[in-house]
Amino acid sequence: MRQKRNGMQRPTALVTGGSGGIGLELAKVLARNGFDLVLVARKRDTLEAAAGQLEGKFDVKAHVYAADLARKDAPQAIFDFLQNENIPIEILVNNAGIGIGGEFADTKLTRELEMIQVNIAALTHLTKLFLPPMIKRRSGRVLNVASTAAFQPGPLMAVYYATKAYVLSFSGALSEELRNSGVTVTALCPGPTHTDFADAAEMTNSRLFSTFGVAEAADVAEYGFGAMMHGKRLAIPGMKNKILAQANRFAPRALSAKIARMAQETR
Ligand SMILES: NC(=O)c1ccc[n+]([C@@H]2O[C@H](COP(=O)([O-])OP(=O)(O)OC[C@H]3O[C@@H](n4cnc5c(N)ncnc54)[C@H](OP(=O)(O)O)[C@@H]3O)[C@@H](O)[C@H]2O)c1
Repeated sequence: MRQKRNGMQRPTALVTGGSGGIGLELAKVLARNGFDLVLVARKRDTLEAAAGQLEGKFDVKAHVYAADLARKDAPQAIFDFLQNENIPIEILVNNAGIGIGGEFADTKLTRELEMIQVNIAALTHLTKLFLPPMIKRRSGRVLNVASTAAFQPGPLMAVYYATKAYVLSFSGALSEELRNSGVTVTALCPGPTHTDFADAAEMTNSRLFSTFGVAEAADVAEYGFGAMMHGKRLAIPGMKNKILAQANRFAPRALSAKIARMAQETR
């Protein structure tokens, strides 16, 4: 059942990858703004620790659902669980995402297909399931976490950049389809941000992470939340990231790819 505060039903936000990094910071901002939470990630113990931390600090209920979004059946299982628990989702935050660095000819296909499943297919599937009830209620928000990687080809991280280009394109198209529906879709495009992501993608030594300014996840989350609540279609945190994203619109694709390669290389 939904929880009540001062006799009012509290709306619930579902955050994938809500146990760490940008997802956990988004969950904190949502909790601070009065949303109950459903946190999804693979490791149950980390999820439970995050939920305990949020419930301890804010007056909210934080549910957890342990699922591997690389599994094709995960989105439907999450949706069915919430239907059975009678927890309507007001805000869907498709945040979970993974990165893989290296030359495409050398990287492992299985890991890349898993990344496509998490970054693209699960995000699409969850949106397909949670959007219709929002449209019916004429109320809801979707926040899709893309990246500044979405704006150009990304040598040495080719598939990751391509998955984020998908997220940006998909979100932009949806937000136009949903104009005047009461439901908004926002693509959040962070630049390099302090989380476990770069380590997992083996890119901590890239110029992107070692010489460009690296943002704090809490600032990215605050910015993304504000943009989502204002129904903005695109949210790029940080002036430098905004300028670089805009510059890519005018630069030849080959030049953008060369610059992205330099950023991906180690110093
Ligand atoms: N950090 C950056 O520099 C940066 C920049 C631009 C965009 N982004 C994007 O921001 C989003 C969040 O990244 P982050 O940096 O916060 O990453 P992170 O610190 O590595 O956190 C990833 C979160 O996703 C969960 N997760 C990972 N694989 C999963 C799977 N297969 N199924 C379900 N949950 C999974 C993790 O928990 P478990 O391990 O327990 O599953 C964790 O909660 C991603 O979409 C990423 O592409 C990040």
